[in-house]
Amino acid sequence: MPGPIIYLDNAATSWPKPPNVGREMARFLAEDAANPGRAGHRMALAAERMLDDLRGKLARLFDAPDPARMILALNCTDALNMAIKGILEEGDHVITSTLEHNSVSRPLQALAEAKFITLTQLPMCEGGFIDPDAVKQAIRPETRLIAVTHCSNVLGTLQPAEEIGRLAREHDLLFLLDVAQSAGLVPLSVRRMNIDLLAFAGHKMLLGPTGTGGLYVGERADPAPWREGGTGGDSASPTQPHVYPYWLEGGTPNTVGLAGLNAALDYLAVQEPGAMLEHERRLARRLSEALAGDTRFRLLGPAEPSRRTGLVALTVEGLAPEEVGAVLDEVFNVAVRPGLHCAPSIHRELGTFPDGAVRIAPGPFNTEEEIDVVANALRQMV
Ligand SMILES: Cc1ncc(COP(=O)(O)O)c(C=O)c1O
Repeated sequence: MPGPIIYLDNAATSWPKPPNVGREMARFLAEDAANPGRAGHRMALAAERMLDDLRGKLARLFDAPDPARMILALNCTDALNMAIKGILEEGDHVITSTLEHNSVSRPLQALAEAKFITLTQLPMCEGGFIDPDAVKQAIRPETRLIAVTHCSNVLGTLQPAEEIGRLAREHDLLFLLDVAQSAGLVPLSVRRMNIDLLAFAGHKMLLGPTGTGGLYVGERADPAPWREGGTGGDSASPTQPHVYPYWLEGGTPNTVGLAGLNAALDYLAVQEPGAMLEHERRLARRLSEALAGDTRFRLLGPAEPSRRTGLVALTVEGLAPEEVGAVLDEVFNVAVRPGLHCAPSIHRELGTFPDGAVRIAPGPFNTEEEIDVVANALRQMV
């Protein structure tokens, strides 16, 4: 097999991680990996301090006012389920979009099919964006929540979250924003964007390990716990103590992974702002330009790069995405993500359902040479 692997599946999870991430996880495991507990021994206190430090860094990163309301979770799916299932009440109406990942659309669809809520799923407009006017028109007296993605994981399109947040606030609705694909790449502000519930993955462009994510819960929201159990304190309370963050954090957290995320945030903090996004966009542009003009490749999404992150989704004439992915993997040593990307509705709209597309998602450590290998591989293949 030629050379080392060229990993271009960073939208699923980033790889490799910055070197200090693995180092800090190994150190934490060797020295501090006790069960974090407020009333515990020194090791437990060290673990708790690491979690508090991490909450503080995340709150600063997302411009969120209260670190105690930064709930640490297993991944973005965990955080989204916590928000959706904790907030919605019988009879509520929810506005969402066809751009959503299954981790938003499946819990909502299940609640709608159980006739617990009603749901409006807005189609995308102009090549991969949610139209704020359509959101406004969909608002009804019983609307409670707007739940949308900030960045499509298929097209990389960045949504007008600030406008949608403003609308939500004007109509006294809760706003849940899924920032799985944008956190770490694009500046985010809970305050400015009027976000009530911000769900993120720690393992994508925040560059932490898998098994990490979180939910910021703003003052206007108070989800019921989706998971109840041990909190390391208030053990006498017969029910979950209504104290943030423990209210939503029953059970032993993934401290080793979260120590890695904490280190990843230190790495991000010393990078030039916007440089990672610019790097990924440059690589995506290089690939798009190498394939443009060859009608055997269909590049999905808008050509305009300023409103999208740096990923490329494409189809190849005469070859199923699964085949393209397998040949890239087995012959060219390139890892990409073929298929529906857990977002079937958007593929239906794009006309790429049920086979999907090939998603090529660079990360901060990919190079122009690697992109050229992929472009040549795709050309050879057809
Ligand atoms: C837009 C979006 N939302 C949510 C998720 C789910 O994230 P996780 O895998 O951390 O549960 C993903 C994962 O790819 C995603 O792309």
